[in-house]
Formats: sequence, C-alpha cells, structure tokens
Amino acid sequence: LFAGDWQFVTAAPTVEVLPPMVGMEIALAGRSNVGKSSLVNALTGRKALARTSVTPGRTQELIFFRVGPELSLVDMPGYGFAKAPKEKVEAWTHTIKAYLRGRVNLARVFVLIDSRHGIKPVDEEILDLLDKAAVSYAIILTKSDQVKPTALPHVIAGVLEKIKRRPAAYPVVFPTSSQTGAGFPELRAAVARLLHE
Ligand code: GTP
Ligand code: MG
Repeated sequence: LFAGDWQFVTAAPTVEVLPPMVGMEIALAGRSNVGKSSLVNALTGRKALARTSVTPGRTQELIFFRVGPELSLVDMPGYGFAKAPKEKVEAWTHTIKAYLRGRVNLARVFVLIDSRHGIKPVDEEILDLLDKAAVSYAIILTKSDQVKPTALPHVIAGVLEKIKRRPAAYPVVFPTSSQTGAGFPELRAAVARLLHE
C-alpha cells in the first residue's frame, strides 16, 4: 500500500469543489505548524509530496493524495494561529469543519498534537465537532524527537486521560517523528488494518 504510487489528486479551497469520492479517505487535522504535511511525506515515503514550511499557515486548501482506488490522504490547513489574513484563516477553518462533518467516505481522522504542547482548547473544539458528528478519530503525537524519551509516556498518558470519555476517539495514541521516522511502522500498520476492517 505505502510502496504504491501516490498521486496528487486536487487542491480544494471549499467543500463545493471536493473531488469525487473514491475509496476511503483519511484526513489529517491539527493546529497550524503541528506537522500535518510533513506527516504525509513521512507516511508515504515521498520527501516532497506535500509542501511544508516553518511558517504556520502553509497549507491553505484541502489537498487530496491517492494511492490506487482504495485510499486517499487529505492534508488540511491548520486551525488556530496562522500567518495569514484573518478572513483567509476563517474561510479555511469553515472549509475544514464542513468537510469533517459531512464527508461520507471519511473513514478516520488523525488529529495531530505536538508532543511538546499536548491537547489545547482549540484542539478540544475540533474533538467536540468530531464527537458530535460521530466521525472516528485517533490522536497522533508529532515531533516526538523534540521531547525527552522519558517524558513521552507522560505526554501520552495526559492525552489518553483527556480523550477517554470522548465517544468517537480511539483509545490509542501514536507518537511519531517525521524527522526520525519513529512511529511510522505502527501508523502504517494501523492504516492497513483500517482498510481491511
Ligand atoms: P500548516 O500547513 O501551516 O498548517 O503546517 P503543517 O501542520 O502542515 O506543518 P508542516 O508539516 O509544514 O511542518 C511545520 C514545521 O514543523 C516544519 O518546519 C517542519 O520541518 C517541522 N516538523 C514537522 N514534523 C516534525 C518532526 O517530527 N520533528 C521536528 N523536529 N520538526 C518537525
Ligand atoms: Mg501543511
């Protein structure tokens, strides 16, 4: 699956221009700069499939990537603070929420959380939306290389504590580093299982 040929499908600025539904979709949600686009590249093994930047607000549309007829990955703009005009941020935040609530073939959302910061109020808002819409999601911790290995279990425990009563949350957390590749074998296995559920 991940050795396959990943293709860019389309960039959708609004939900009016989403691509046709083919197979299942997995969407990546998270605060601006958390590492969503880097995760697309690390997961697919393609260095520059998705565009990344040190500046929050790099991805401004829903970016669809597909491998074969079964699976698409959707890189999304971030929520929260971004270096972009307020109207633009409001518009893409609206698009993210409308897509997350209303996409029939959205099989799973990965909500990315920075290992250094944990779950913030702005993340809770998105988790509330997903719980309300009954869209199942799992938490991925990003940038695990930025915290001490001994601190990581505490970060994971803190996240698990915060999601344990959330109805649409899988009670697992995937610690990852797009920099070192840590956690990606586990994440790829989880995606493969999801496809064959
Ligand atoms: P927006 O599109 O702006 O919402 O950001 P994004 O969530 O797509 O983040 P992006 O992948 O562009 O990464 C943001 C910054 O974090 C870049 O400078 C990346 O190099 C860095 N980064 C991403 N993943 C990791 C990681 O695992 N470890 C470290 N150390 N840095 C990372
Ligand atoms: Mg991005």
